Amino acid sequence: MTPSPPQARGLDLGVTFAGIQLKNPVIAASGTFGYGVEFEDVVHLHKLGGFVVKGLSKEPMAGNPPPRLYETAAGMLNAIGLQNIGARAFIEEKLPRLRQLKDIVVIANVFGYTREDYESTIQILNDGEGIAAYELNVSCPNTGSGGIQFGCDPRALDEVVATARHISQRPLIVKLSPNVTSIAQMARIAEEAGADAISLVNTFLAMAIDAEARKPRISNVTAGLSGPAIKPIALRMVYDASKAVKIPVIGMGGISTAVDIIEFMLAGATAVQIGTASYWDPCATEKIVDELEAWCVDHKIDRISGLTGGMLLD
Ligand SMILES: Cc1cc2nc3c(=O)[nH]c(=O)nc-3n(C[C@H](O)[C@H](O)[C@H](O)COP(=O)(O)O)c2cc1C
Repeated sequence: MTPSPPQARGLDLGVTFAGIQLKNPVIAASGTFGYGVEFEDVVHLHKLGGFVVKGLSKEPMAGNPPPRLYETAAGMLNAIGLQNIGARAFIEEKLPRLRQLKDIVVIANVFGYTREDYESTIQILNDGEGIAAYELNVSCPNTGSGGIQFGCDPRALDEVVATARHISQRPLIVKLSPNVTSIAQMARIAEEAGADAISLVNTFLAMAIDAEARKPRISNVTAGLSGPAIKPIALRMVYDASKAVKIPVIGMGGISTAVDIIEFMLAGATAVQIGTASYWDPCATEKIVDELEAWCVDHKIDRISGLTGGMLLD
């Protein structure tokens, strides 16, 4: 027997941000879910609120040489190097299939090394039908400005978001870098430059060394840390950012259970993304949706969106 949908049991898991409606707040995070189609055989995609595709650039990119992944205590290091098929190939080879998927939101993640890169990639993607929003990955080195990440430099962040806003024909989510002193300041800059929502966190700059070989564990030497190890810091950043802006916040960083989602929502998130958990269990996203539904029923929650920002302070 097919279980009845949550609405039929008086439970509303729906959330809305930037004018986009999701049937539940669970979104698969960029870089951990391919272009969605690769997960079709293992995950019932229609059960998710949405997914964000791997970061897209104007031209295809090969990424870094291996080793590119390394498991750490309660986390994972990656330096994939933003390998992707390029925006045009995404439109031609992946979008036609993605358009056939019903009742799931597809978000395109975009990155670049100059402002013009972001502009041209979004311009190409504007022609693709079936993309609900753009998520701007600003954790990339700005080659025009000495290599500092766009998301770590207030002026570069302002400029790249304003450029993207200008060219984008879709809602714009700005994905903040956590490698900053004040996430609240960066959140406000993104909002003022025209973001419709912010998402955070991207990975934390980190590294690991093989003491026997005296060599880095990752060929790129430094890498991004993700997974449960970063959850408490990510939660604090979501809390700080959501207090600083009026636009919706999409929270992520180490989520692996339904209770993690509830914590991020109480801290101020409207929706959440799940990344590294899919590496340990490719079905994690779907399982967490089921868990979330059961948690809400157990806790007599009838409308999940009512939890956003609901942490009690006394
Ligand atoms: C292997 C891997 C690849 C990633 N690629 C991207 C990417 O292309 N664009 C992006 O914005 N974030 C990328 N991320 C960051 C994730 O989307 C997410 O922000 C981060 O991993 C924190 O969430 P998690 O702890 O649930 O994984 C990547 C993460 C991993 C682990």
